[in-house]
Amino acid sequence: MTKRTARAVASPNIALIKYWGNRDHNLRWPSNGSISLTLGGLETRTTVTFDETLPSDRLTFDGLTPPNSALLRVSEHLDRIRRIAGIHTPAHVESQNNFPAGVGIASSASAFAALTLAGTAAADLSLNPKELSRLARLGSGSACRSIFGGYVEWHAGETDADSYAEPLAPPEHWDLIDLIAVISREHKGVGSTQGHTLADTSPLQSARVADAPRRLNICRDALLHRDFPTLASIVEQDSNLMHAVMFTSTPALIYWSPATIEVIHAVTTWRAEGLDVCYTIDAGPNVHCLCRKQHADQVEERLGDLPGVIDLLRAHPGGPASVI
Ligand code: PMV
Repeated sequence: MTKRTARAVASPNIALIKYWGNRDHNLRWPSNGSISLTLGGLETRTTVTFDETLPSDRLTFDGLTPPNSALLRVSEHLDRIRRIAGIHTPAHVESQNNFPAGVGIASSASAFAALTLAGTAAADLSLNPKELSRLARLGSGSACRSIFGGYVEWHAGETDADSYAEPLAPPEHWDLIDLIAVISREHKGVGSTQGHTLADTSPLQSARVADAPRRLNICRDALLHRDFPTLASIVEQDSNLMHAVMFTSTPALIYWSPATIEVIHAVTTWRAEGLDVCYTIDAGPNVHCLCRKQHADQVEERLGDLPGVIDLLRAHPGGPASVI
């Protein structure tokens, strides 16, 4: 057999308690644990074909050839898979997103979760979910959470070996909606891989990391008890803490645009008026507005009226990554 192929689908995730900074950058072994929601409705589909007739790895993304840096990162991940499988065969990787990449919608999470599943399946490996999560983590930290559906916790771990994610609650546990206010479709200047290396240059990072167990406990409990007000307050505090670290790094990382702040103020006002909605922002200007399903249509309408919001994406608790 000269060709072996497999296809997988994975959804991105939004971190409710954020991963920012590493204990070991090469291993993407994080400074703190994190909690996320897998975003159903948004997906990356990836086909991996190991092909002995190829001279080297090839990558196509939405039918186009992406920059060489993307191919290098994918090749490094394929090398991890090839090492486990004991093969040397080059691969063609074809990937498609149904949402814009590089604007703070964690496209690397779904990309590396789908690549891990399709790559290991094409290499005839059968890894358990923990092993898949740990392997995905080496490609992109947050990808370890996208292996699972619903509400997910990534344990920082005592060593690199026990740093992987596990499901906290299935998608049907709580039908929260994530309305993503798209502020810009431009590719971000500083990617998260580089951003993580700057975290420890902020004098605030050590306090943020030391306090992480408290935030994780509050968030986990709020999710398990479906307690929206508590969830809202810890999610916003955690996002603000991460951006405070970013603002005070050397060099400073400022992902926000004026419209980002416009959405933050609007969401805060709407919550005071009685709508169950809160905001959280990753490494980009877009704002994820988490809300209870019964308030989602109203929040969506109001977000659509804000002048700085150029598009809106709607996601619901999604399922795990899977081979298709
Ligand atoms: O997995 P990475 O290296 O793309 O880092 C993700 C960083 C944040 O999205 C900002 C936070 C998170 O936990 O997803």
